[in-house]
Parts: sequence; C-alpha cells; structure tokens
Amino acid sequence: MASGHILVAFTFLALVSLVLASDSSPLQDFCVAIDEPKDAAEDFLLKGLNIPGNTSNQLGSFVTPANVAQLPGLNTLGISLVRIDYAPYGLNPPHTHPRATEALVDLEGTLYVGFVTSNPDNRLITKVLYEGDAFVFPEGLVHSQFNVGKTKAVAFAGLSSQNPGVITIANAVFGSNPTISDDVLAKAFQVDKKVVDRLQAQFGTDIN
Ligand SMILES: *[C@@H]1O[C@H](CO)[C@@H](O)[C@H](O)[C@H]1NC(C)=O
Repeated sequence: MASGHILVAFTFLALVSLVLASDSSPLQDFCVAIDEPKDAAEDFLLKGLNIPGNTSNQLGSFVTPANVAQLPGLNTLGISLVRIDYAPYGLNPPHTHPRATEALVDLEGTLYVGFVTSNPDNRLITKVLYEGDAFVFPEGLVHSQFNVGKTKAVAFAGLSSQNPGVITIANAVFGSNPTISDDVLAKAFQVDKKVVDRLQAQFGTDIN
C-alpha cells in the first residue's frame, strides 16, 4: 500500500537525520587529517598551551584553539579544546558553537559566565566562577564569559567536536560580508537605521 510505503520512507528519513545530527562515533581508532603523515606521534601532540594569549585588543580576551586544524590527531574523534585568556575586565563576547557543547574550567581569576536558552523562554543562566569551578555551555546556545576581577583570568574548555565552529553574534549580525541590509537589521532590532549603521561601522570587517 502506497501510504504504508510513505510511512516507512518517512520513518527511515527521520532515523537518518537523527543519526546525522551530531558527530558520529569513530569508525576506527583514528584517521589523521593530513595528506602525508610525518612522525605519527607528532599528529597527536600540540605544545604551547601554557603560553598566555595576547589580550591587548578591544575585548581584552584571547582564545587559543586546539581543534583538528592545530591537532590533526583529533580527526573523527569528536573532541577538542581551547585556552582562553582574559585581561582584567576582559570579555569573551556572546557567541555560539554550532557543533559542540563546551565544558569550561576556571583555572585563575573570577569569571561571570552565562548562556541563554532557546525560544520562547530565552532564559539567562549565569554564575560567577572562581578558581577551580567548572561550567557547561550546552551545544548551540549563546554564551559569554566576563572577567569581573581586578586580575587576569585563565580558563580551559573541552568541546564535543573536533571542529566546534564559532559564531560571534555581533560580528555575524553587524559585521557580515557583505553587510546585511540595514532595513532588515533596523526592523529586526526595532531601532533606527542610524543605530544599525553605527554598529555596522563598529563590527564591519570590510578592510578592502
Ligand atoms: C599584543 O598585541 C598588541 C596589539 O596587536 C601588540 O601591539 C603587542 O605587541 C602584542 N604583544 C605581544 C607580547 O605580542
């Protein structure tokens, strides 16, 4: 019967899309993502995460990534990490990781952290972290960390993807290339176009 076949087909599609909704489990021990493997052990080693990132920038923070781009041995393994340095009052601004949950450990300093749940609640979940505290940012949710102490802060975080991706909200919305129409943004944010233009000037990456 045709309707029966359609039901079976839809069920199959639903199962396939479920399976594809996250990093799949590794099919083998590893699969290093480089054309010509050098000394194999080197593909699993990354040095230098003891070195603080340079936080002399407008936000006062710096993220040092250790994903599959820096550490080829992570390929297919569904995990990566970052080091984050914060100057006093430095901010890692609101952003999301489209492909990963993040588990962050505060190693030094005091961080005001939080994330916002999805629509319709958009509930803000926050905590102040002290040395040794850990916090979780669920996959895809907008989150940030703000150093509220008078001293520098350092955190490390594990992410549940070899390539978590980062979407920084301000840059994606106001600094896209080419820019999103100010008609769209003025309406979306319910503000005057002048406000949009100012934000676009602030976050524009158009340096050509
Ligand atoms: C840090 O970055 C600033 C701004 O780009 C630069 O002037 C400074 O030399 C850098 N410091 C170090 C130690 O690299």
